Amino acid sequence: MVSRRQSIHGEWSSRWAFILAATGSAVGLGNIWKFPYMTGENGGGAFVLVYLLCVAVIGIPIMMAETMLGRRGRQSPINTMQTLAIEAGHTPRWHFVGWIGVLAGFLILSYYSVIAGWALAYVLRTGTGVFTGATADGVEAIFSDFVSNPESLLGWHTLFMAMTMIVVARGVQGGLEKAVKFLMPGLFIILVVLVGYAMNAGEFAQAMRYLFSPSFENLSPEAILAAMGQAFFSLSLGMGAIMVYGSYLPHDASIAGTSVRIAIADTLVAVLAGMAIFPLVFAHNLEPGAGPGLIFQTLPLVFGHMPGGVVFGTLFFVLLVFAAWTSSISLIEPAVAYLVENRGVRRSNAAVIVAGACWALGLLTVLSFNVWSDVHPLGMFETFKDKTPFDLLDYLTSNIMLPLGGFMIAIFSVWIMSRDASRDELDLHEGWEYPAWRFLVRYVTPVAVVTIFLNAIDAI
Ligand code: PHE
Repeated sequence: MVSRRQSIHGEWSSRWAFILAATGSAVGLGNIWKFPYMTGENGGGAFVLVYLLCVAVIGIPIMMAETMLGRRGRQSPINTMQTLAIEAGHTPRWHFVGWIGVLAGFLILSYYSVIAGWALAYVLRTGTGVFTGATADGVEAIFSDFVSNPESLLGWHTLFMAMTMIVVARGVQGGLEKAVKFLMPGLFIILVVLVGYAMNAGEFAQAMRYLFSPSFENLSPEAILAAMGQAFFSLSLGMGAIMVYGSYLPHDASIAGTSVRIAIADTLVAVLAGMAIFPLVFAHNLEPGAGPGLIFQTLPLVFGHMPGGVVFGTLFFVLLVFAAWTSSISLIEPAVAYLVENRGVRRSNAAVIVAGACWALGLLTVLSFNVWSDVHPLGMFETFKDKTPFDLLDYLTSNIMLPLGGFMIAIFSVWIMSRDASRDELDLHEGWEYPAWRFLVRYVTPVAVVTIFLNAIDAI
């Protein structure tokens, strides 16, 4: 029977293991590093609201669709799309959805690893007490000194990429399950403590207003696109990461229940990160739109002043590195699974090839923060005029490739795949859930993605 395919890469030990791994993929730099600075760059509340809406009406249904396709196909996203298309009597060319995903994951990891390298470097800085008693200006100066040195960024990027390569080479299941089980709750607790600290030491009320009372006048089409892109990025959707993890999911696990849980956990972490950071931003008169350096220019202030800040801060950055690690693994797993399946490459060699290529591409990002900080390859367009190579990579992947991948996944699961197949795999035979999911994925998601795209194109 088709629905009993087996993955050659193994299976999660339980539904829990999948939840942990998928949460590990979702929770990462996207929540703690990117969400706060994107919120700051896009003016606060209205951006947050659109983001939350996107998670609920686009993110959760697409996560269900992606997991469902993965579990039914049981192969790398490229082969899964091809197999399921043939099964539905359509052209095998649908494998291009898998290819877009592989490419997106590859591009994302190239810069993700550089930023994760920053977090690694900050473990050392915090641990050696560099921030003790530091002022806002001091912390900012330490950050700009750090990123202005390409050799050191390259060193940390290399270390992080090597860490990713090693885990992927050994197979995703084993170590990951154990790591996520302890580290995710740890990260969560640390964030709650940080929010508690920000409540006392920062401008908490102002931050809450900033985050949760939307003012729609300054919500541009660009910001709406960015909010949608952030929802895809943060939930790891649209590029096959969740699909490939779904392919290792046992048959008796409920896809709807797991998707909702993962989305809630992911969103909670992002919102907590915002609630920890913005009170400090306002208390110290920092710039909310400071960009990618935001958490590195705010959190060390807390660690430099709170009792036990050295230990606590070090722990925070260690956990952030782990969160990034469990995400980066899922970014190259689709490519590695493909090489193993189709090219007969050994898993360990596949990991070396993919991580090596990503590492080299990472140089674009390393240089974007120093030598090339004034290089704006698409400077002739108003929207892109200040964008460095790193900004462009981020824009292309989060705002275009992931939503496009999600759009194709939506179209495929409800217009190409048979109703019976999807209902069977989602195991939603009675009740309102299946019709609701189908409606969202059939109409709401595609229309929303296209409308947001068109609006943004219009604004360029
Ligand atoms: N979701 C991860 C994060 O928030 C990043 C990611 C994107 C991982 C896409 C896999 C796929 O950090």
